[in-house]
Formats: sequence, structure tokens, C-alpha cells
Amino acid sequence: MTTSIKTEPGGRFISFEGIDGAGKSTHISRLAEALRLQGCTVTLTREPGGTPLAEKLRAMVLGDAMDPLTESLLVFAARRDHLMTVIEPALARGDVVLCDRFTDATFAYQGGGRGFDLEVLVTLERWVQSTPALENRRLRQPDLTVWFELPVETAAARLADARTPDRFEAQSLEFFRRVAAGYAARAASDSARFASVQANCPPNEVWQQLTGILVQRGWLPRRFAEHASPP
Ligand code: TMP
Repeated sequence: MTTSIKTEPGGRFISFEGIDGAGKSTHISRLAEALRLQGCTVTLTREPGGTPLAEKLRAMVLGDAMDPLTESLLVFAARRDHLMTVIEPALARGDVVLCDRFTDATFAYQGGGRGFDLEVLVTLERWVQSTPALENRRLRQPDLTVWFELPVETAAARLADARTPDRFEAQSLEFFRRVAAGYAARAASDSARFASVQANCPPNEVWQQLTGILVQRGWLPRRFAEHASPP
């Protein structure tokens, strides 16, 4: 039997989460490349963003001062457009969708970081992630969420060397501690969906952990677990 990430019709939806400075982006691009070499059609995308409209909303959320409800409404508006015009059609085609952040980020940043009302976020999640493709009032959620975990101090040190910070990257260590706690709470509430990567490691070890998660699910061939760098 050949190993394939597309073992059932309807594609796979994988999201990637973590505090700023966790180093997700490079690994997501590598993974997209590895999956394409396996013959998968990959939709590589991000939130907030991923469509022309959602990218405009992203620029506002990252650049303009606003209150936490406005911020939450904008990220969920961007998500709805992204879901309906990119993610759902890609899943219907059978693509593997790799999404750099999704709703867990809203619970972590707006809920945890900003201290915004989680009940309102739950309501918005229910409105935005109900799609005609799903029956029985189920919500669209990732099939797998890879959580890049690392100490907030390490993330802050990485960000200090980076470009001009946006509204989130400029936040305090205390803010990022609350964001990390927000992720931990989401992971605890849906542990079957979450898999952790210890991101405070050299890049090749992070890569091995990441591919190990997909190998474990039968979504990548076993030989990936043996390679420290992309084969
Ligand atoms: P990025 O730099 O990883 O692309 O993410 C953009 C920033 O937006 C990041 O600091 C996290 C933040 N964010 C939220 O505050 N809420 C959300 O729902 C999402 C998706 C991202």
C-alpha cells in the first residue's frame, strides 16, 4: 500500500500555529515542497490573508490601532472570505491545504493576548466556519494543527533581530505569555487535532519533528522520519 496524505476524498486541512518568532514559515514552505514531490497538490496560504480582500484586512489588523472587538471582527471577516474562496474550493478539489495560522490564533491573540471575551469568539467561530460543504452543524476545522512551541523569551530574542515589528510583534513578554496560555487552552480542548513541535531546536531537528507528525498519521512515507533535512 502506498502512503498518501490524500487517503480520503476532500483533501486535508493542516494549520500551523505558534507565537511570533516560532519560526513556522520556513518549515511550512519546506513541507509544501516535500508534499508536492509526493505528488500532492498543495494550497499554501496564510491568515489573516490568503485572498485580495483578506490581505487588505490583514494590513489594517497589523498596522492600525483598534479595539479588540474590531480586531476580532476583522480577522473573522478575513477568515470567512478566505474559507469560502480559497480553502473550501481547495479541499473540494482534494488539495492539501497548508495554512499559516487559523482560528486558534484568534483564541490565542485576541482571547489570550488581548483578554477579549471568549464567548464572543466562540459565536464568531460558529458563524464563520459553518459552510455548506459540511453537514450536521459541524464547523470547518483543520484536520491537524501543528503547534510550534517555544519559550516566549527565545521568541522575543529572535524577533529583536528582525525587521520593524508590527502591532503584535511589538507586544510585551507578558502579552506573549498570555498568547501561549491561549494556545495551550485550545490544545487541551481539542487534543486529537493538535500536535506539538518543540521549536527551540536547530532547524533540522524541528523538520524531523514536523515530518514525524505526518509520518505517524500515514500522510508522508516513513523514510521522511529518517531525514534531518528535506529529501
Ligand atoms: P504572521 O506574522 O504569522 O503572518 O501573523 C500575523 C499576526 O497576526 C501574528 O502576530 C498573529 C496575528 N493574528 C491575530 O492576532 N489573530 C488571528 O486570528 C490571526 C490569524 C493572526
